[in-house]
Amino acid sequence: MNDIFADRISDVPRSFIREILKVALDPEVISFAGGLPNRDLFPVNELTNATNEVFQIYGNDIFQYSNSEGYIKLREYIAQNYNRQGLSVNPENILITNGAQQGLDLLGKVLLNDGDGVVLEEPGYLGAIQAFSLYKPSFLPVQVSEQGMDIDGLRNVLQQNKAKLIYTVPNFQNPSGITYTNENRQAIAQIIQDKQLFLIEDNPYGDLRFSGEPALSFAHYLPEKVIMLGSFSKIVVPGFRIGWIVAPDVILNKLLIAKQASDLHTCHFTQYIIYQYLQKNNIQDHINKVAQQYGEQCQSMLASLDKYFPSNVTSTKPEGGMFLWVTLPPQVSAMELFDLAVKEKVIFVPGTPFYVNKNHGNTFRLNFSCTDKPTTEIGIKRLGNALKKLQNKV
Ligand SMILES: Cc1ncc(COP(=O)(O)O)c(C=O)c1O
Repeated sequence: MNDIFADRISDVPRSFIREILKVALDPEVISFAGGLPNRDLFPVNELTNATNEVFQIYGNDIFQYSNSEGYIKLREYIAQNYNRQGLSVNPENILITNGAQQGLDLLGKVLLNDGDGVVLEEPGYLGAIQAFSLYKPSFLPVQVSEQGMDIDGLRNVLQQNKAKLIYTVPNFQNPSGITYTNENRQAIAQIIQDKQLFLIEDNPYGDLRFSGEPALSFAHYLPEKVIMLGSFSKIVVPGFRIGWIVAPDVILNKLLIAKQASDLHTCHFTQYIIYQYLQKNNIQDHINKVAQQYGEQCQSMLASLDKYFPSNVTSTKPEGGMFLWVTLPPQVSAMELFDLAVKEKVIFVPGTPFYVNKNHGNTFRLNFSCTDKPTTEIGIKRLGNALKKLQNKV
């Protein structure tokens, strides 16, 4: 039977998180496992109005095929946003994609041959590991910590290997919640400035800052070497599947071919609705509201971790985004903790799938975007109980 499948799909696993989320269907289970934006914050009325307006303005044309690059006004809006941050982005260098996730797939398709080196954050975004895996690269993991990417680690990896891509999520990283400092970004830029490679800056969470100061995009340092991925998933709604890639001309031309081959174009109905929504509403007010709520929920999670976990359990302290990362003492297995936690009716994502070739069995990811403060406290207390039971067993 295996003979019928292409090699490229043979050892790519199903998404571990999507498997775990089946447990979350039990309404009594408190889930810190998902990576979903909070549905209660979706701007439903505003999007309903925008949808009606789009019908009125465009009529039947909204149901027609459209161009592959994406709605020009939306691309102009996105370009202006970058330009306000001091970057120089031309709408012609933006391709609208079916979420940033499609951007990862298209980049893999266009840039990667079997065995090509791809530097990955360790721990890294599962969706990127999965998307790139289909193109059979050689993954080159480099550790990230609260400061950003390990500079010596990156230097060593690039001395010993030829890398074609460096994949980064420098703001409120998924899964760890860490943010690269400006110094760290500058040091990375210096290391790669003379190398023939591209750095992907995947930034779906960057707007969701609830403390600290914004850092500079890698594109400030190395505009010609940086490919940026963006998305409306975390700041408006994920279900519309609207993301984008910003890339230099040569790359964008090839991405466009891959996009045409893949799905002709991203749904233009939802592109028009998002654009109409952006015209009629103050998106910054909405983003502030989302970030504030996530910040409060994150604080509540950190306070509960302090209260219900022993002091040898540590966690990251995110300044934004939706996740934090917990490290248990070295001998404690997050997978075993998971089994006990399910019995206590609370779930999280064990760290192992976020690593490509090392078993960091004592780490796990917690999501704080979807649970209010009282539920967070109950959930973390249950998790603390599960940990006590596990340690008593050991
Ligand atoms: C780091 C990262 N990149 C990309 C994506 C995919 O986002 P989109 O909904 O735009 O496809 C996610 C989604 O969780 C993510 O965490």
